[in-house]
Amino acid sequence: MNTQPDAAAEPVEAVASAFADLYGAAPAGVWSSPGRVNLIGEHTDYNNGFVMPLAIPDRVTVAASRTGSRVLRIASAQQEEKAEIELDKLEPGSVEGWGGYVAGVAWALQTKGYALPGADLYLDGRVPLGAGLSSSAALECAVATALIDLAELSDAPQGLAVAQLAQYAENEYVGAKTGLMDQAASILCTQGHALLFDVLELSTKQVPFDLDGAGLALMVMDTRVAHSHAGGEYGARRRSCEEAAAELGVDSLRQATFADLDRLTDPVLLKRARHIVTENARVVEAGQAMDRDDWTEFGRLMTASHASMRDDFEITVEEIDVTVETALEHGAIGARMTGGGFGGSAIALVEKDKVEALGAAVLATFAERGWKEPVIRTMLPSRGASRDR
Ligand code: GLA
Repeated sequence: MNTQPDAAAEPVEAVASAFADLYGAAPAGVWSSPGRVNLIGEHTDYNNGFVMPLAIPDRVTVAASRTGSRVLRIASAQQEEKAEIELDKLEPGSVEGWGGYVAGVAWALQTKGYALPGADLYLDGRVPLGAGLSSSAALECAVATALIDLAELSDAPQGLAVAQLAQYAENEYVGAKTGLMDQAASILCTQGHALLFDVLELSTKQVPFDLDGAGLALMVMDTRVAHSHAGGEYGARRRSCEEAAAELGVDSLRQATFADLDRLTDPVLLKRARHIVTENARVVEAGQAMDRDDWTEFGRLMTASHASMRDDFEITVEEIDVTVETALEHGAIGARMTGGGFGGSAIALVEKDKVEALGAAVLATFAERGWKEPVIRTMLPSRGASRDR
C-alpha cells in the first residue's frame, strides 16, 4: 500500500534557500499553513452550522521579505511561471491562475484597510490539488500570515479575522463562494486536536483527538477524482439551502428544526435541508462522543453523515461511495467523504492493526474496476498557521 508517513517532511530550510537563490538574499521569515480534513459537518459552514475539521501535515510554506517597491514578486516550487503583482492595481480577477490566490489575499487585506508593503515571496505548496484537502485555503492562509507579519501592522488581524480575510479573497477575488471552514481550520487548528467550530457564533473549541492513545488511525484516501468548486454543483447546493431557509422563514438552515422539515413541499429542497439539519445535530453529537472517547458512536456518526451526503445532499461520486463501502467492509469504525464533494477524498477511522488490510482492499477494488490508483495515507492532527523561521 502506498501509505506515506504521518508527518510530511517540512521544507522550511529548502524554501529559504530557494528564496535566497532567486532573490539574492535570505528571506526575512518563513511561514506556513496547512490543508485540512473535515471529520464531520459538510456543507454546514455556509448554513451557519457546525463543522469539525483538523489540520493535516501537508502545508503551504512561504519564504518572504519586504522590499521598497509597490510590487509583490511571486515564484513557486511547483510552477514554472513567476508573476509580479502591482499592489496599487489590484482588481478582482486581474491576476489569474495560482497567482490569483496571492493577489486575492493582498487585495482583501488592502480593501479592509491594512497597508501592505511590496514584498518578494517564494512558495512551496505540498497540499495535493483537487484532493478535497483545501490546498487553496492553505495557500491563502500561508500568504496572509506572511504578509500580515511583514506589514508590521499596529492593528494586525489575528485568528478568525485572518481566516475571514482569506475567505473574503476566495469569495470575492477568486470568485469561489465557499464557507469559512477551510480557512478557519488552516489558521486555528492545533496539533493533536480537532476544531469544533460554530460558524453562527464564531466560537471554537479544541477537542483532544488522541488517535495514538486510542490505538486508532485516521486514513485519508484520495480517490484522485478531481473536484472543482468553481463547478456549478457547489453553488447549486448553496442556493437550494438558501431557498429552503427562505421558505421556512429563517435566516439560515442553522435555525431550522427537524419539525420544520415537514413544511418543505419541494422534494429536492426537503432532501437538501434534511442533510443540513441532521448533519448539524451529528456534529454536536460527534463532539460529545469524542469528549468521552466513544469511538464507536463517533464512527457511527461519520458513516451516517456519508449516507446523508450520498442520499440527501447528493454530492458523492461512485469512487467515493465504493471507497467508503470497502472501508466499512474491512473493519473501519466509521467512514465518509470529506470536503466539498464530487470527488476528492474519503476518510476512515480504523484500529491501527487494520490499516494495512483496509488500504490493500481499497487498492484492489480500484484496480479491479480499472480506476486510477488512489493515494492512501494515515494522518495525525497537525498545527495551524505558524511562523517557522
Ligand atoms: C469546501 C468549502 C467549505 C465547505 C466544504 C463543504 O471545502 O471550501 O467552505 O463548504 O466544501 O463542507
